[in-house]
Amino acid sequence: MTTITEHVTPAVIESPAWPSLPIPDTAIGDERFGRAAGHATQLLPSVVHDALVDFADAAPQSGALVLRGVPVGSLPHTPESPTAPTVKDHVSEFVLLTVARRLGQPVGYQPEHGGDLVQNLVPTKANAHRQVSTSSGVDLMFHTEAAFHPHRPKFLLLLCLRGDANAVTTLSSIFEVLPLLPERVVETLFQPRFRTAVDESYLHGRSNVLGAPMPVLSGDRDRPTMVFDADLMVGIDEEADAALRALSAVVEQHHTGLALEAGDLLIVDNDVAVHGRSSYTPRWDGFDRWIQRSMAVTDLAPSAGERNGRVIVTHFGA
Ligand SMILES: [Fe+2]
Repeated sequence: MTTITEHVTPAVIESPAWPSLPIPDTAIGDERFGRAAGHATQLLPSVVHDALVDFADAAPQSGALVLRGVPVGSLPHTPESPTAPTVKDHVSEFVLLTVARRLGQPVGYQPEHGGDLVQNLVPTKANAHRQVSTSSGVDLMFHTEAAFHPHRPKFLLLLCLRGDANAVTTLSSIFEVLPLLPERVVETLFQPRFRTAVDESYLHGRSNVLGAPMPVLSGDRDRPTMVFDADLMVGIDEEADAALRALSAVVEQHHTGLALEAGDLLIVDNDVAVHGRSSYTPRWDGFDRWIQRSMAVTDLAPSAGERNGRVIVTHFGA
């Protein structure tokens, strides 16, 4: 049995001051906003720029990176729901999309907040105890972002506008976990013997269906990619299910975590690390935790038939 050591923590890049950014006076979903963010990649502080180039080239052992000291603009109260209107400047949104454009191509997903390229993640009373991003009273189980989706993002960006010291974002990298798994389990995880249900937020009342069988691990035997969801994935037979439970148990034991603070931008390679979040207690006082999320694919071409502009519209459920 391999001894379980501490999971490596993501590198933290302390960002120097950013220049003032040419934020267009358009809606965030407007093509001009995304293009301006692309052009603004040349204005990124060089230490940030180079860290992003290196991250996109090859995921580090932790599968994640933290940019610290990122501008977030001036903030109104934390909105009461992800889609509640807020009167806010667009600094954080522009920063997120600029960083996303250095990594790949930012996209939205129609069922997630109508395809917004930047989404507000805030606690809501209605969802406090559900396995969704607006929960607070439960641990959010480890998952690949949109594990069930054929056009799932390669990069997940979580920018903290307001932190909560008790809300720990958890991460577990396949590069760390792989040596802790028995060989037979690894062998099984490389086979297409797993199916994933669709996230509730994509169904809007339609009934759930399991996706086509797929492997959990793919690619290089020593540095594989991983698609895993502790809540939504099942094995198609007993051995596959046991392998999934073994992976789940190791991830539960071997992970790292950080309580994001205002100005922290956590970037996750969604092919390498799964993420989750601890439970925490909102105060419902207008100063609760507020994260903005963006996602990016490496290439827009594969989703061309199921995409309007930057919004992926793949339909799920029966
Ligand atoms: Fe997530």
